[in-house]
Amino acid sequence: MKNMKKIIFGLAILAVFTFSQTTNAQAKPKGKEWKVPAGDASKKSPKVDAVAGKDIWGTNCKSCHGIKGLGDGTKAEKIDISCGDFSSKEFQSKSDGELFYYTKIGRKPMPSFKEKLSDTEVWQVVAYMRTFKK
Ligand code: HEC
Repeated sequence: MKNMKKIIFGLAILAVFTFSQTTNAQAKPKGKEWKVPAGDASKKSPKVDAVAGKDIWGTNCKSCHGIKGLGDGTKAEKIDISCGDFSSKEFQSKSDGELFYYTKIGRKPMPSFKEKLSDTEVWQVVAYMRTFKK
């Protein structure tokens, strides 16, 4: 009977630990609503190479958004709002034009990539973000 209690206690600790680990990235509050002008949201992506987007992601985005876009990059810890979960339905239901706009413009603490990436490069990284879909 004594052992049983120990086992149950052990399992409870494990459950709490696992829960806190898996929810860590999403536990932070979301940023305020971020509206995209209608003309930008409806922009269509040209045909681009998502593979090229992978390198751009690794160099410019991964540090915050994580390898798979789960919002668990090494810098995410120090940011007080959520970096989002790009595998989610909510994120993936946004248009290419919206993702292009967010990436191009940025919003603190996320930097703007207006100067750093060409339009083609932004479309490539948009295509790459589509591969995060669950
Ligand atoms: C310094 C950390 C940081 C870097 C680097 C960064 N982001 Fe972000 N990103 C964020 C944060 C934080 C948010 C949420 C901003 C908000 O809600 O105000 C965000 C939001 C976004 C959004 C909007 C998400 C949504 O659900 O509306 C997109 C798209 C995005 N980032 C793409 C990128 C891409 C692509 C790159 C690289 C080219 C990148 N980010 C680099 C921190 C970062």
